[in-house]
Amino acid sequence: MSSKVFAIDFGTSMIKIYKKNEGVIFDEKNVVAICDGAVKAIGDEAFEMYGRTPDNFEVTFPVKYGVVADFANMLALLNSAFAVLSDKHGKFAGAEFIVAIPSDISEVECRAFYDLLWSSSAKPKKDKVRAVHKPVANAIGAGLEVMTANGIMVVDIGAETTEIAVMALGGIVNSKKVNIGGNRLDETIINSVKKRYNLIIGSKTAELIKKELSCALPPKEVKTLRVYGRDVMTGLPTEAEIDSAFVYESIEEQLHSIVDAVKMILEKTPPEIASDILDTGIYLTGGSANIKDLDKLFAQETELEIHICENSANTVVIGLGKILENGKYSDLRLTLDKMANGG
Ligand SMILES: Nc1ncnc2c1ncn2[C@@H]1O[C@H](COP(=O)(O)OP(=O)(O)OP(=O)(O)O)[C@@H](O)[C@H]1O
Ligand SMILES: [Mg+2]
Repeated sequence: MSSKVFAIDFGTSMIKIYKKNEGVIFDEKNVVAICDGAVKAIGDEAFEMYGRTPDNFEVTFPVKYGVVADFANMLALLNSAFAVLSDKHGKFAGAEFIVAIPSDISEVECRAFYDLLWSSSAKPKKDKVRAVHKPVANAIGAGLEVMTANGIMVVDIGAETTEIAVMALGGIVNSKKVNIGGNRLDETIINSVKKRYNLIIGSKTAELIKKELSCALPPKEVKTLRVYGRDVMTGLPTEAEIDSAFVYESIEEQLHSIVDAVKMILEKTPPEIASDILDTGIYLTGGSANIKDLDKLFAQETELEIHICENSANTVVIGLGKILENGKYSDLRLTLDKMANGG
């Protein structure tokens, strides 16, 4: 393997690119702004434009529920990212790639991740694009030992998906991708603010409220935030003060749905592995694992030890990086044929 090797995690909210032996070189919103057929901006800069554009602009998130929903725009974003990054990191032409593929997706959805790279401006050879099961990359990025017979459970709570997986011997024993994540919490906050305060807020404001005030258990100390939006009745700009107790009540049910999905997987886990998980607990990753007291809610509901992983939003791409850099993981890098046959 040459050193021009890149790992990519195509998230619903964020795209993360890792360069072998260097680390994460791109970690931005997975958003592209197109105007009259041409890319105007990508990443965080495109997200700045979100919700503020004139009619001839299209600002989109090409990945939905963890899969490539808009191939053309995802490819345009990727090629622009390569062009921007090549100034500092050299040309991407002829590079090798490794990508993370969610569990529980169709063969066509799986193929799209390989096709993206094959169709990109880097034009890698067919065998220079490999993929890894996302939960396996996630566990390695979380610093867990996945190649032994000891069972582990990792839950990646992202923007539109929560991927729950039980693993042993470098493979997935049991997994489920459920379509709930941070975006659902943002939508719930938008609806609750509208109901309680007659205030229409945008998704960026909702995400800010969530990051500042959300809590998975009734907050002991109530925090507040002044937010701006439009009055439902008059349509005029107005403001309201939102507090963390209100946010907790708004998102409580959605958080319980995530916990319930995890419990269902635990119930289906073979007894030997269940006893390993009883020893080691559950590892939470993904950006949404940062919700205050989420570990306490999971601990209360599952009676297991809960660990929130450091740098939780980046564990998948960091895991992909470790897989690139360490020969002991070479069997985990799969060609399309192997991935389609369950790896
Ligand atoms: N401090 C925080 N508190 C609560 N939520 C947060 C925090 N930081 C980030 N998030 C949420 O985490 C989500 C992004 O996480 P992540 O980068 O893991 O998602 P993703 O990989 O793009 O999505 P997916 O895995 O679903 O495809 C967003 O919904 C974001 O609002
Ligand atoms: Mg993710």
